[in-house]
Formats: sequence, structure tokens, C-alpha cells
Amino acid sequence: MNSTPARITKAVIPVAGLGTRFLPATKATPKEMLPVVDKPAIQYVVEEAVSAGMSDVLMVTGRNKRPLEDHFDRNYELEETLRRKGDNDKLERACAPTDLGDIHYVRQGDPLGLGHAVLCAAPHVGHEPFAVLLGDDLIDPRDPLLSRMTEIRAQYGGSVVALMEVDPGQIHLYGCAAVERTADGDTVRITDLIEKPAPGEAPSNYAVIGRYVLDPEIFDVLRGTEPGRGGEIQLTDALRELSTGTTGGPVHGVVFSGRRYDTGDRAEYLRATVRLACERKDLGPEFRSWLHAFVAADTGGRPDIAAGPGLLRPAA
Ligand code: G1P
Repeated sequence: MNSTPARITKAVIPVAGLGTRFLPATKATPKEMLPVVDKPAIQYVVEEAVSAGMSDVLMVTGRNKRPLEDHFDRNYELEETLRRKGDNDKLERACAPTDLGDIHYVRQGDPLGLGHAVLCAAPHVGHEPFAVLLGDDLIDPRDPLLSRMTEIRAQYGGSVVALMEVDPGQIHLYGCAAVERTADGDTVRITDLIEKPAPGEAPSNYAVIGRYVLDPEIFDVLRGTEPGRGGEIQLTDALRELSTGTTGGPVHGVVFSGRRYDTGDRAEYLRATVRLACERKDLGPEFRSWLHAFVAADTGGRPDIAAGPGLLRPAA
């Protein structure tokens, strides 16, 4: 154990990525601004950080990411118009992102990789433990993960990553961890890490998902981390050094078994939108009935309603 447990108040969210998987939607709009139901994906991520007590949020941005700053800033004209109309519900929704926390921005400049993006946060973070949240991963708010990770950091020191067991055929898409059990059922000690292993080289099917609680020692390691997979400076490689080295460790993994949506993938993004819409109190009941009818029609179970426009009518 290398440092005393401290409350973690800072979160870093790298948002400099180009989002090419969503072209053309992301040609002029940052991928983080794509709505999941009626809220941009990034807002869910900031809400998650804030609800785990991390109200100091640093976004590591790049070119064309101005809409993110505008989203979390005031929009006086809009607010004034809604206030004048007395439309408090919409006013509340417009102000919610601004009232979330204390949001800061730093530009990454050169897109040298996730490890480099995290290193850009060093001057803001200083010498304290901090969290990193990747914007492509949405964690369902009913399955808190970050607060469990901070508990594990308080217990063991060092750094903590979130892991999920994935189909072995998918592990090449992720950082992959070699692990040992601990006395805590959901927690493992990480003994090695490989970024996006080639088939046959993965030591397990434990995938790193986009949540990290990091010891500030990571910055020193990142300063010396050579470009790795894809010619980029990889956070996984720096964590590997912490997990196998003598300072700055240990590295633990919390095995997450809750609901996670990868909004960086088009099919998963659609699933996330449908699931979250179904669960919304305001939209859910009507949307669910429509969806049941749609699926039944699609599978031939309800040929009577397969005629198209009828599907869009509110369910009785
Ligand atoms: C990044 C990390 C990878 C991790 C993944 C989780 O990769 O480098 O280790 O498993 O996020 O989403 P990316 O998906 O940004 O290529």
C-alpha cells in the first residue's frame, strides 16, 4: 500500500476522440454529444462521476469539441425565454448540465493516445488519486461501480480498474488483465495487462472497461511510457508497469456484473437508447407498448399491426 486513503474528488474524462464509427453524424458534432434518448451521452458520464462524489471534472478535449463546453455552460437566452414562458420543466432540463459540478477543460493538442490524454490532466489533478471515465462506456446508475472502486482503493491503496468478463472472441477489443483472487469476491489483484491482445495471446477474458481510479504515480510512469499498440501511448501499458513494478502499485480490478452500454458501437448505442427509453417514467410505458407491437409484427406474431403507420400510433 503506497498512500493513505483519501476522498476522491477529481474525475478526468478524455473526450478528444474523433468518433469515426458514427460518421457522418460525428462530422460536425462530437460523438459525446449524441443523445441517448434526450440527453447527450457525456451528460450521463458526468452525472455518474458527480454521484460518486467527484464534482471536479476535467475534460481532456480536442479540436471541434466546443459544443461540449457549451452544453455544460449557461445559455442565458434560452433560459430567459423559458423563464418568461414559465416553462419550469424545460428550464430545469436546460440548466441541469450546468448545475452538475465544476467542469474544467484542457486541450490534448496531439492525439497521441489515451495514456497521453490522461497525462494532460497532471497539472490539474496534482498529487492526489483521481478517477478516469471513458465517454463511450455508460454504466447504469442503478449499478454503482465507481463508489465500489473507491472503496477498494481505500482498502488496498494503488490503482483500481473496472473489469468485465467478455466472450473470449471479443477480448481483442479491450485491455486484458491477468488476475489473482483476493478475499473480496468481486475484486482481483492484477498481475499483468495487455492492450488489445492478438487472438491466442489473451491471459484471460477479463476486459478493462472504461473506469479507472488511479494513483497519481501513474503520471510519472506515463511520462516514460513508449508508444504501444497502434503507435499510441497506452494507459494500459502504464498500469501494467504499476502492477508489475515496485512503486505506485498495486493494481486491483473490480469485476463489474451490472449493466454497461458501449455507446461507441452503433448497435450497442441503439440498444442503450431503447433500454433507457423503456425505463423512463415519462416515455417508457407508451414506448414499451409500441416496441412490443413492433417486435411481434416483425416476428410475425401480430400480422394485424404490421402495416407501418399504425405502429406509430400510441398504444391503447
Ligand atoms: C480503451 C482502452 C482499453 C479499454 C477500452 C474500454 O480502448 O485503451 O484498454 O479496454 O478503452 O472501453 P478504446 O476503446 O478507446 O480503443
